Amino acid sequence: MEGKTWSREELEAAVRPMYSDKRWNHTLGCCEMGLALAERWGADGQMVMEATLVHDMTRNLSDDDQLQLCKKYGIINKYGKEEFRNLIHAETAAALAADRFEMRPAVVQAVASHTLGNGDMSLLDKIVYLSDAIEKGRAYPGVEAIRKLAFENLDRAMQMSIGSTLRHIEEQGGTPHPASLLALECIERALYEQENNMNENNRTQAVDLTPEQLMKEIVKIADSRKAKDLRALHVTEQTTLADYLVIMTGTSTTHLRALADEVEFQMKEKFGIYPHHVEGVSSTWTLLDYTSVVVNVFMEESRETYDLERKWGDGLPVDLSDILIAE
Ligand SMILES: [Fe+2]
Ligand SMILES: [Fe+2]
Repeated sequence: MEGKTWSREELEAAVRPMYSDKRWNHTLGCCEMGLALAERWGADGQMVMEATLVHDMTRNLSDDDQLQLCKKYGIINKYGKEEFRNLIHAETAAALAADRFEMRPAVVQAVASHTLGNGDMSLLDKIVYLSDAIEKGRAYPGVEAIRKLAFENLDRAMQMSIGSTLRHIEEQGGTPHPASLLALECIERALYEQENNMNENNRTQAVDLTPEQLMKEIVKIADSRKAKDLRALHVTEQTTLADYLVIMTGTSTTHLRALADEVEFQMKEKFGIYPHHVEGVSSTWTLLDYTSVVVNVFMEESRETYDLERKWGDGLPVDLSDILIAE
């Protein structure tokens, strides 16, 4: 890969004069935390070491010196005065890492994003960001929890760390930086996708059922939960939307909810079949759409109002006498 690889001794000797004693302790703490996280998450320890050792190397410069570096490297100052002091060092340190230290682009990128984060952060970026936030010298409310989480779920730890920083900024009356908002949004999207994949992997393999079998299984489940006036209509001739319509009545809103939940749960558990969508049409009518079978759970008054049976009157009522056992 393009760029120079530094030994730790060589790099420490080169950057130590740029740090105050206090900040050097923080930097060594970041390096230690970064290496532990790299080992935990299988990141490149060499790159983590390089990025953490240089990440704050311009933090102690005066405003004038920072501005000089900005000018030299074409860094546009987008910050107000206070923000400039806190944030510009990430960009000037990255510029020096690339130019003077000839570091690899991925290392430079991690240095640049250590204060605010950015969209689509790499594993290295996240480890450097978190190391800075949770190294052993850091003591702020909640740091212990993030420290623990960083070894259990890196993205969750990122979410918690960026989230608490943004909350802190808002509490101080400041405006969260767009880069941090973008970082949080990307992390949260990744977490959502991870969890969705996990759910999908845990899904039971769907069993192939004909529309008629599907309808009968649904009727059996509803019957076992004492659905009232359970009917099924064969509507293939009437609509392309479904083959069967299942209609039932719940005796209370709780019973209605229980019927819909039980059908959804049992179909998923027994056959790995999920409704295409579920709709609480109203508090007195819930619809579960299994594509070839549409299930309607009504409260009595709603069932009369909507009168689906009459609407679908041309549909063939299915004889359910051999299935139904409940009163
Ligand atoms: Fe920093
Ligand atoms: Fe730092």
